[in-house]
Amino acid sequence: MTEETHSVPRTRTHNCGELRPSDVGADVVLMGWVHRIRDLGGLTFLDVRDRHGLTQVVARDGSAVLARIKQVRPEYVIGVAGPVERRSEETLNPKIATGEVEVEARALVVLSEARTPPFQIDEETPVSEEVRLRYRYLDLRRARMRENIGLRHRITMAVRNSLDADGFWEIETPLLTKSTPEGARDYLVPSRLHAGEFYALPQSPQIFKQILMVSGMDRYFQIVKCFRDEDLRADRQPEFTQIDVEMSFVDEEAVFAAVERLMQAVFHVLGKEVPAPFPRLTYDEAMTRYGSDKPDLRFAMPIQDVSGVFREGRFKVFRELVARGGSVRALVVPGAGRQSRAQIDNLVDEALALGAKGMVWVRQSPEGAIQSSILKAAGEEALAQVVETVGAGRDDLTLIAAGQGYEASVLLGQFRLRLAEREGLIDENRTSLSWVVDFPLMDWSETEQRLVSMHHPFTSPRPEDLDRLEDDPAAVRARAYDLVLNGNEIGGGSIRIHRAELQARIFRLLKISDEEAQARFGFFLDALQYGTPPHGGIALGLDRIVALVAGEPSIRDVMAFPKTSAAVDLMAGSPSSVDRRQLRELHLE
Ligand code: AMO
Repeated sequence: MTEETHSVPRTRTHNCGELRPSDVGADVVLMGWVHRIRDLGGLTFLDVRDRHGLTQVVARDGSAVLARIKQVRPEYVIGVAGPVERRSEETLNPKIATGEVEVEARALVVLSEARTPPFQIDEETPVSEEVRLRYRYLDLRRARMRENIGLRHRITMAVRNSLDADGFWEIETPLLTKSTPEGARDYLVPSRLHAGEFYALPQSPQIFKQILMVSGMDRYFQIVKCFRDEDLRADRQPEFTQIDVEMSFVDEEAVFAAVERLMQAVFHVLGKEVPAPFPRLTYDEAMTRYGSDKPDLRFAMPIQDVSGVFREGRFKVFRELVARGGSVRALVVPGAGRQSRAQIDNLVDEALALGAKGMVWVRQSPEGAIQSSILKAAGEEALAQVVETVGAGRDDLTLIAAGQGYEASVLLGQFRLRLAEREGLIDENRTSLSWVVDFPLMDWSETEQRLVSMHHPFTSPRPEDLDRLEDDPAAVRARAYDLVLNGNEIGGGSIRIHRAELQARIFRLLKISDEEAQARFGFFLDALQYGTPPHGGIALGLDRIVALVAGEPSIRDVMAFPKTSAAVDLMAGSPSSVDRRQLRELHLE
């Protein structure tokens, strides 16, 4: 070791984001990664970086450390010691917190060397996600990722504090467990001690949290990993984190109030106040007016019913459809009426590409004449009536679709989102949190040819719908709710069934036999029979919440070690094969 290395103490006095003009004159020790080196002839600048920020270090000509600085490379870990100085006027950097000062290096030590990284650690250099994930430890050194991980930490702490203040206990539930009923595929873990038997990783702690209510734990929460072997998307990972909550002796109101306080605490982290209570709309309203069970309410553009106009009208397709119980719906796109015919025709093609049978449009010429793709067939009068009913202005475009059930709304709902985005009608600074309530209890599954739970089989039906359970199960509403943030589902939950007889009735409807129910969740059905309080809860997707508030398009960007869309960990190389001995021990071929 050379002389100067001895003079860098073993610990730092400050981190790299800490020094301010008030520290000028102090002798400090900094440690961190070499971010950038600039050799300006008589003067060498070096930025040293850690989680907290960047500090500029300077070595002047003739300095004893100059020779050593020449040996360091980006991403080396170094220690530097020296006095804090005020930067010269030309080198002030208002963009960083330490931008008014620099440290004059009197001593410098290389704590570890670094191979040349596959990409530069900054925000400007474009890097493929594959490379970022393979070298995640380097990617996480970038400011954006570091900020996301820090934000996630602060949100997690706010959630814990909010729930603690509301009397919730954080209780862990097992990861090596039995299959749970969330409807995705399970990840299985073979047992060594029990040949041919498997644990399942939980898709959620649903059954355990309900059992904790039977145990009298009253209010539970857990920030917990869940595992689902399903097809992945930007907002889905095979393992993800839920803020899982369950409460005893409550109805929907108490759950909503606790979650609203929690979400206010989350937004408080960002310095944003969100008003509560959050607006509520029923599933039926959401589907009819927005064509989605997770409507983006940052902008209006509701879908409107114009079936009445066509019920008796000339246009046969719509008239017959309405006669068969279908509906005709319209979407007004503000300001889109002045688009070219070609642009409007493209929209119709888009609708066809989405699988629609058709889509019709109406607009007015600057002089107020009706123009429409069905002008001849439907007549000017009917179309003028549509324009009037929906309140479309001279510059607006009205899109019309027809279908059974929610079909027309679902199609128009997709255009509502696409066009609002394209026309810049969404205020990105707005926060819209809302509850969607009264989901149907069950849904017909074409693939399974049976009714399936829309949420999960422990969800309580609405008491006033109970007498329709056997005769018209599709019409039964559930005491289930989703929380929606800017058009994204960030949570879902329900008031649960707390009586064994009703639970058994639901299983019968779902064609889950007594034997199957007993084999899958017999322990839970038993527990329900030992005194179960009325209870309910919710699970919020932590990854989704953090991604949305951080403005990240994918939850991968707010997870330290996510998997690719093919469920692969490119850094660790999982999944991977295992050796024969391990397989034998697990009684696997
Ligand atoms: P649910 O299945 O609706 O409910 O999940 C709750 C929330 O978890 C998030 N989420 C996911 N996030 C990332 N990747 C995934 N693969 C993924 N799957 C779900 C979503 C979702 O809203 N046990 C019930 C809750 C309850 O009834 O209390 C449950 O798990 O944000």
